[in-house]
Parts: sequence; C-alpha cells; structure tokens
Amino acid sequence: MVVYNPNDATLQRDPYPTYEALRNEQPVYHNPDLDFYALSRHADVAAVWRDSQGVYSSDHGVTLEQWSPDARRSMSFLAMDPPDHTAVRGLISRAFTPGRIHRLEPRIRELARTYATTAIEQGSFDFITGFAARVPVDVISELIGVPAADRPMLLRLSQQIIQRDDLTGRLTAGVRQANLELHTYYRQLITERRRQPQDDLATALLEAELDGRRLQDADVAATLMLLGVAGNETTIKLIGTAWRLAWTHPDLREQIWTGRIPVRAWAEETLRFEGPSQYTMRRTTRSLTLHGVTIPQDARVLLVIAAANRDDRAFPDADRYDPRRDTSQTLAFGLGPHFCLGASLARLEAAVVLEELVSAVEVNYDIDPAGVRWAGSPSIRGLVTLPTTVKPR
Ligand code: HEM
Repeated sequence: MVVYNPNDATLQRDPYPTYEALRNEQPVYHNPDLDFYALSRHADVAAVWRDSQGVYSSDHGVTLEQWSPDARRSMSFLAMDPPDHTAVRGLISRAFTPGRIHRLEPRIRELARTYATTAIEQGSFDFITGFAARVPVDVISELIGVPAADRPMLLRLSQQIIQRDDLTGRLTAGVRQANLELHTYYRQLITERRRQPQDDLATALLEAELDGRRLQDADVAATLMLLGVAGNETTIKLIGTAWRLAWTHPDLREQIWTGRIPVRAWAEETLRFEGPSQYTMRRTTRSLTLHGVTIPQDARVLLVIAAANRDDRAFPDADRYDPRRDTSQTLAFGLGPHFCLGASLARLEAAVVLEELVSAVEVNYDIDPAGVRWAGSPSIRGLVTLPTTVKPR
C-alpha cells in the first residue's frame, strides 16, 4: 500500500522511491486524509495538461495549501482557465517572446561573469546565496523594474513563501506574512509607476489594454508576484542542483568540462532527473475513470511532474542521471496552455551561468556535504545552502 503525502518532510528528503511505487502500483492514487488524487505516469500527466476532453481546471491554484479562497488573487493567470487565462497570458507573453529573451543573453552573461569572479576570489562560498541566486533575481528584477536596493529583500521573501511547516507541511503565519509583505511591496511599486511610468514590465502591465479593458492593480500585483516567485526560486534551484549532481558524478563532470557533453544538455538532464517543480494541481470539472479508478467531479488532482520525469516508459533507465540521453519528452516545464512562460528564460539563464562557471573554475571543485540543506517545500525541490570550494581554471 503506497502512502504519498507531499507535505511529509521525510518524503521530501528522497521522494523517488515513493514516486516509483506510485507509478507501478497506484497510477491513480487517492489520499483520503488530504483528499487529493495523484497521477505519476508520464502519459497520464501529459494527457491532463493537454486536456483534450476539457475536464481539468486550474482555478484551485497549483498547490495543496491555498493562500486564499480565490487562487487567482495570489497566483494570477496560473490559476485561470480560458478565456481569462488566454487573455492575461497574451498580455504578459509579449515580454517573453523568444526574440526578447535572446536579447537578454549579453546582460545575463555579464552578470554571471561578475558574480563568478567575486565567488572565485573568495574560493569558498555558499553556492546558492553567494552565486546561483544572484543572476535570476537580477534578471527578473530588471525586467519588472525592481530597484537593486530592494532585491535582497525580495529574494528573502520569495524564499520564505515556498517554505512550509516542517511537521504538517501547512502554510505558517510567517509564510502568510511574507506573502502579504511581497504583495504590499508590489502594490507600492505599481502606485509609483502610475505616477511616473518607466520602461519596464510593471508599467507595461498597467498600460496594457485588452478589448478596451485594463488589468486591475491587484491583478498586476499578483502577476508580478507570480513572475518574481516562479522566476526566481525554480531557476536558482535548477542551477544549484546541476552543481551538486555534477559533483556526485565526476565522470560526467569531466566530460562537461572538456566539452564532450554540452552545458545545455547538463541543464536539461538536471531538469528531468531532479527538476525544481515536483508537482502541480488541477481540479476536475466532472467525474472520469482512469486505470479503473473513478475520480469524482471537483476532485483535486496532483500531477506529479517529478515522478513522470522518472518514468521508464518515457525515459529508458530513468533513474540514471545521464546528460547524453534524449530529454525531449521532459515535463519539467509543463505542457499545453499553461506551459511555463519563463522556460526559455530559465534555460538561457541556467546555460549561461553554468557555461561561465565551466570556463572559469577548475573541474575538481568541492562541496561540503555537511552544509547541504534542502528547501522545506512540498512543491519546489532544491537546495537552500550548498557550501562549495573552487579554484580558478
Ligand atoms: C508555469 C516550471 C522558470 C514563469 C510553469 C509550469 C511549470 C513551471 C511546471 C506549469 C504549471 C502548471 O501547468 O500548473 C518551471 C521551472 C522553471 C521555471 C522548472 C525553472 C527551472 C520560470 C521563470 C519564469 C516562470 C524563469 C518567469 C520569468 C512561469 C509562469 C507560469 C509558469 C508565469 C504560468 C504559465 C501559465 O499559467 O500560463 N513553470 N518554471 N517560470 N512559469 Fe515556470
């Protein structure tokens, strides 16, 4: 009998054996205590995202614990369905076209190089706080229009927001407070932009018109929060996990450093093997039967992304970390209408940051395992501290 509770801190230490049991023994799992269903096979998770029957809604948000009864107040268009989703996403996606993201590359490289130089001078540093967190926070802040002085505070708040209580996995008062502070911050930013428009995303969202309608201030604030949190925490964790996995696989590391394995393949396999997004959630709008199990209407269904990405049915020998494999079927960024809006940006940031490290740091870097700490988050996997020691190349 499989027991899967994403809020359980013991599970979070190594969820993969449980994911395997789910895939093989209960591909449609029901947790009666928390009252949710979970799908873990690649084909099933992908089918929900494609939703060809129109059975699934995003209106309950993407996490088991809800911030407020109205998920879109805190998660913006991530918690919307068409046609609202199509309209709001359409407005924001103008800032994330492949061309615009491509033009950010020189700036991302400049930032990565600056932070790498400082870190290498120190020799020993915390890879997450001292390095990996810096570039994503700067890039999204520059896009939105957050001044440099406010960024450490925003990073702290977005890190707090994904944490959950160690024992119960529930939202704590501290997390709610961080959410409120972040919301207040963006409301103030919006007020300033109304008074004095700038060439940034915050101003663009205030001015954007859709069928003659404008977004309300609360919606703009929710959207900026979504971009801030989704854009920072996931990308930072991807970069940190890639660094740790290359350290635990010296043979692969050697091949990455000598150029036989492209850095981009290293990042892609990290996304598949131990991606930051562990699960997302949908609500059923009517009942359906899958693998002989009936899921009722209004049920919460977890799509266990990280389990689907380890499914042997889609990736042969899926528990083996191998950047030389075909990762084209990865579900790390989702699929369908809600496919990650920041996927090209995240991929570019990770590739550039890791490329800069490979060219500046000796292959035999070290990590202090005693200082490695995982984020206490049920839905986002990755490290919050990763002490490392490097030598210049
Ligand atoms: C949606 C993962 C980076 C912004 C998603 C979804 C996943 C995901 C799985 C789909 C959620 C669902 O269907 O319920 C990731 C991962 C990242 C990453 C693994 C980094 C490694 C980013 C970045 C940004 C971003 C850098 C923004 C700058 C968004 C937004 C959505 C989204 C706005 C909602 C899209 C929609 O609902 O239409 N992301 N993401 N993400 N992501 Fe990302």
